[in-house]
Amino acid sequence: MSLTRMDVIMMLALAGAVGAASLIVQSLAPAWTVPVVAGASVAAVLLVLFDLYRRLLGMLHESHHAPGQNYRQIEALFSLFSLVRVEHPLPAMRGPAVSPDFACDLVSLIREIRPACVLEAGSGVSTLLAGYALKASGRGRLISIEEDAGFAEITRRRVADHGLQSCVTVVHAPLKTVRAGAHEHLWYDTEVLKDLPEVDLFIVDGPRQENLPARHLRYPALPLLFPRLSRGAAVLVDDCHRADEREIVERWLREFTGFEAERTWGEKRHTILRRRHQVS
Ligand SMILES: C[S@@+](CC[C@H](N)C(=O)[O-])C[C@H]1O[C@@H](n2cnc3c(N)ncnc32)[C@H](O)[C@@H]1O
Repeated sequence: MSLTRMDVIMMLALAGAVGAASLIVQSLAPAWTVPVVAGASVAAVLLVLFDLYRRLLGMLHESHHAPGQNYRQIEALFSLFSLVRVEHPLPAMRGPAVSPDFACDLVSLIREIRPACVLEAGSGVSTLLAGYALKASGRGRLISIEEDAGFAEITRRRVADHGLQSCVTVVHAPLKTVRAGAHEHLWYDTEVLKDLPEVDLFIVDGPRQENLPARHLRYPALPLLFPRLSRGAAVLVDDCHRADEREIVERWLREFTGFEAERTWGEKRHTILRRRHQVS
């Protein structure tokens, strides 16, 4: 555990507050200076210790749960590799990439739906695994839109390394302001999707949230693509461990009828939406 910028700011603020309090007391009631400064210093030290305790407790909680989660992801990897035959080393999963349990559900969905067209927002290891599943099913194409030109090129190279060019296309789609619902949002440039056929499976795992603090960043996905979804389409949404993604899914369910939601207990709590009935 190292000192963050926030820690330094907090310590300087506490030292400043104690110093200011001592100056004020010295000018108003000099006899009280020593007890007030001592009390304020003790309070400042207790505050720092409490913050340390809270952070250590968080780390303890995380390390207590990590072995269980690691075990579950290894289990999911075994299932995954029983479903797809990977012919080249894969890039790392987890972190910014999908976790093995998500990948397992993605491949299972492709085997179940046998989609003619899969659309993905946010390329990476998921692109390769979906490509393998499509290749094995003997039909279907994946179009993966990627905001970062450099990363799109990396994914394209990986697609070629894995021999998946016949069923995967990575399209660079820079983020731009789009209108979705009542508001403007930053999302992929949908110009690149003008020739998109009907989508049977839509994977929502982008844009990357980390550098863009905007709320409900991935909300435009369904309002913009809903008219292009086939009647039995499924939408696979990653990162629902974050409140933002959970709220987006709830918003979609209110605004678009006819979806059934399966909220999983995967590492990043991905949600599967299935279009079941006549929709509005
Ligand atoms: C949540 S990630 C998409 C992950 C992708 N679906 C996968 O399974 O790897 C969203 C964006 O983060 C960016 N990114 C940067 N480094 C990455 C990495 N190591 N793995 C995946 N995405 C990365 C890409 O621009 C990507 O579109």
